[in-house]
Amino acid sequence: MHEKLHKLLIRRAMIIPTSEIYNPVAGFYDYGPIAVNIKRKVVDLWRQIFIEKDGFLEIDGATVLQEIALKASGHVDNFNDPMTECQKCHKRFRVDHLVEDALGIDASHMSISELGKVIAEKNVICPSCGAKLGQVKPFNLMFETQIGPVDGITAYLRPETAQNIFMNFNKIFNAFGAKLPMGIGQVGRAYRNEISPRQSLIRVREFHQMELEYFFDPEEDDSIMLEKAKNVQVPMQTRQMQREGKSFALVTLGDAYKEGYIPAKTMAYFMAKERELLNALGIRDFRIRHLMEDETPHYSGGNFDVEIATKFGWVEVMSLAYRTNYDLVRHSKFSGKNLQVTVNDKKVMPHVIEPSIGLGRLLWCVLEHAYVEDKERGWDWLNLPPKIAPYDICVLPLMKNSDLVRKAKEICDNLKPLLDVSYEQSGSIGKRYAKADEIGVPYCATVDYQTLEDNTVTIRFRNDGKQIRIPIGNLAENIRRWKLNGIVEASKSGYELLH
Ligand code: ATP
Ligand code: GLY
Repeated sequence: MHEKLHKLLIRRAMIIPTSEIYNPVAGFYDYGPIAVNIKRKVVDLWRQIFIEKDGFLEIDGATVLQEIALKASGHVDNFNDPMTECQKCHKRFRVDHLVEDALGIDASHMSISELGKVIAEKNVICPSCGAKLGQVKPFNLMFETQIGPVDGITAYLRPETAQNIFMNFNKIFNAFGAKLPMGIGQVGRAYRNEISPRQSLIRVREFHQMELEYFFDPEEDDSIMLEKAKNVQVPMQTRQMQREGKSFALVTLGDAYKEGYIPAKTMAYFMAKERELLNALGIRDFRIRHLMEDETPHYSGGNFDVEIATKFGWVEVMSLAYRTNYDLVRHSKFSGKNLQVTVNDKKVMPHVIEPSIGLGRLLWCVLEHAYVEDKERGWDWLNLPPKIAPYDICVLPLMKNSDLVRKAKEICDNLKPLLDVSYEQSGSIGKRYAKADEIGVPYCATVDYQTLEDNTVTIRFRNDGKQIRIPIGNLAENIRRWKLNGIVEASKSGYELLH
């Protein structure tokens, strides 16, 4: 665990355990103002890359789904984790994690009976009180509820955003041009009643997903998708590498397809998109892992996870799944409505490729990768790409003098329609720079006595701490240009340095 990062998030109220004043329940976090800003900008980037660039569509679905919908998707019967209960203290544990922690082996692929056997043979005991553990049983991860007051309709909080898209596909297809391929995305909440939530934002019970369902006719040639992505290089962990204990190798997506690692050309296209998003967020240390045969659903045409290197080890943050026509066929069967579509007089049950991203996990990884421990500076800070910094600029009067304060507030007000601006007037100037740095604000504008005379401010750049002086009238335009080009050092700003 990156303790320093978690503490920073808590101290600056970036995340707050939900209902903290009542002794919070694990697995729920409220996002405070700074994190909300970062989160919004990460979503904006996702939207640009995954939706807008391709002219795809976006929906916003309800989060309570009636039982039959989740029977159709398979979640009611199969969305389980293995659980055991301590026979003495009655604490409950997710067994694959328990075995991994106790024995240091990978238990993620083990079946319920294999896990039961390992517990018995290796004498794995309750990590809390040391007593014997009970039988391993499947535990369904969905939160159940009832719709309506008496004898309500059984329903569940959705465990993924995807199902709303499948259920709405036919309607949206016909309302938006009736052409394939069609991409429909969604950013929204998903809920999983995790047995043991842990690792800060990584495993929680309520989180956001950013998902895209790309519907296409599998009989149509999709060479163009590979053509667009073929020269993009990615770190890939093939099944063979996993068997040999190798972490990954760099390959171009063209070669990966030729070698047979990627089962569909369109999957290569979305891998390139996943890389594009990660790079824009400042994450280079990741790998695309081909899921092993026993991790892949029976109906799947191929599944990959994008894993990011963290202090917790490799963490799955994105998945890319070739869901075939499984979901549309299942919803057709359960609803009694044929969800096939007609394209150029041909009946098609479209296939689907799905890049799915957990927003909280991604955010944690972005922050961990941005975290700079800086003994020389005397405080740690976040090297966030300016596009996702919580504020574009922090405006500071040098002292609490009323003329400086008035001028600084006036500058803030003028900038606010154009930029995300924060304002700090209490504490020494050094402390205020530290406060801005530690949440990743890329630029600080200091208002001093010279400002009152010649309408210039000093701009301090986060990454080298150096300053330049520029006219107030040029502030907004320059910040926008620097932000766009990722300039976070005074020497690259195009202005002469003051010192
Ligand atoms: P894990 O094996 O870690 O439980 P998963 O394989 O169940 O994850 P998916 O079902 O593929 O995850 O969900 C898609 C994405 O949703 C994941 O890549 C992840 O980013 C996010 N996600 C899933 N479960 C959680 C959770 N409990 N907390 C936060 N994000 C989650
Ligand atoms: N929609 C993919 C998942 O949440 O598992």
